[in-house]
Amino acid sequence: MVEQAPGTVRASRASTVRLMLPTDANFMGNVFGGAVLAEIDRVAYVTASRHAKTNVVTASLDRVDFIAPVHVGELVDFDAELTYVGRSSMEVWVRVRSEALRGSPAKTVVEALVTMVALDRDGRPMAVPPLLLESDEERRRFEEGRRRMEARRRTRHKESH
Ligand SMILES: CC(C)(COP(=O)(O)OP(=O)(O)OC[C@H]1O[C@@H](n2cnc3c(N)ncnc32)[C@H](O)[C@@H]1OP(=O)(O)O)[C@@H](O)C(=O)NCCC(=O)NCCS
Repeated sequence: MVEQAPGTVRASRASTVRLMLPTDANFMGNVFGGAVLAEIDRVAYVTASRHAKTNVVTASLDRVDFIAPVHVGELVDFDAELTYVGRSSMEVWVRVRSEALRGSPAKTVVEALVTMVALDRDGRPMAVPPLLLESDEERRRFEEGRRRMEARRRTRHKESH
């Protein structure tokens, strides 16, 4: 099989900005967790498909920390980058920051880890390019991601027995 050229973390980074609207809110004026999750899934998709250069699917969303509420009228930034790449799976870290537009600084409101899997034309998992790590921080995150991916695999195997 032909070796694929590695991709950097930088090359697949993705960001989106959303103005949170009344249609995103519950009757208290807070944004639904599901509205935030949908955007997390989208931006993680962009990062993973940029790296894989093919279609990807969400395999798991196993870690989402809702640190603070998001309100209607806030501007919300979604930033995604790869932490770890396996054979066909990729772990994407998404950080969500919200800004109230009254001079207060943006604060981190959600952090999430999403696993995406690259698929070939027949819908089967396919190998993705290796990840080229350019800093000690990226190497640290990769190692942490590798351990989490192993833990996910162990849990899945236990659950299926
Ligand atoms: C994700 C999916 C493609 C995996 O298929 P599979 O037949 O289990 O494939 P494999 O066992 O060969 O695993 C492929 C890779 O996915 C990883 N994987 C599989 N299930 C996973 C899960 N639940 N969480 C994280 N990673 C997972 C495996 O570890 C493997 O990684 P690697 O190639 O880097 O070693 C399949 O379960 C699927 O299509 N799920 C539905 C996805 C979807 O529709 N998402 C949107 C929901 S609306």
